Amino acid sequence: MLTLTWLGHACWLLRTDRHSILLDPFLTGNPAAALSADEVPADFILVSHGHGDHVGDTAQIAHRTGAQVIAMYEITQWLEKHHRVSNAIGMNLGGAVDLPFGRLKMTLAHHSSTLPDGSPGGNPCGFLLQIEGRRIYFACDTALFGDMQWIGRGGLDAAVLPIGDLFTMGPEDSLEAIKLLRPRKVFPSHYDTWPPIAQDAHAWAANVRRETDAEPLTPKPGEAVPL
Ligand code: NI
Ligand code: MN
Repeated sequence: MLTLTWLGHACWLLRTDRHSILLDPFLTGNPAAALSADEVPADFILVSHGHGDHVGDTAQIAHRTGAQVIAMYEITQWLEKHHRVSNAIGMNLGGAVDLPFGRLKMTLAHHSSTLPDGSPGGNPCGFLLQIEGRRIYFACDTALFGDMQWIGRGGLDAAVLPIGDLFTMGPEDSLEAIKLLRPRKVFPSHYDTWPPIAQDAHAWAANVRRETDAEPLTPKPGEAVPL
């Protein structure tokens, strides 16, 4: 059993029978959060870049759960130095690592990555996961880029793409991204948290159905979707 749950904003929880993989756990201060940092399960925490709406509660959850943090090298160093998070794997773009739940590759993202205290977070990233025989791509905060065609080349069971616009690609560019990635299912992310990134997810889904072969899924925060 593999399920994906949107926890609001850009935070996602991927669960297998044995593992809970939490992405970008910004829950405290997130008006759309479906769970609190005190209760969310995690064996692994993936952090895509240094912005506060992604690093979020990483340190607190890592301390409470003992979860291993996987992020850009600069971010894992910062977490260790400033928050005493020592159970971490620092990586960089293009690198992959075998983990107890499967294989994780750090992919390109076009964005910025300054940490909450102004420290440089290195490059931002996305994640390509091979888990339970499925391939799942989290674009994380990024603009549209042509290399998405290569990321999709091995086939994708699901892709999670930002649609909020302003800070990331918006709904129109996400349609182009879907055409490049060709995922079986696609989930929107990084929208509706605050008015500047409000989007009509149902209009987006209708456009995805009309213009692409992907199945759009728009769960409410907290709703687990089987993959
Ligand atoms: Ni960001
Ligand atoms: Mn963001």
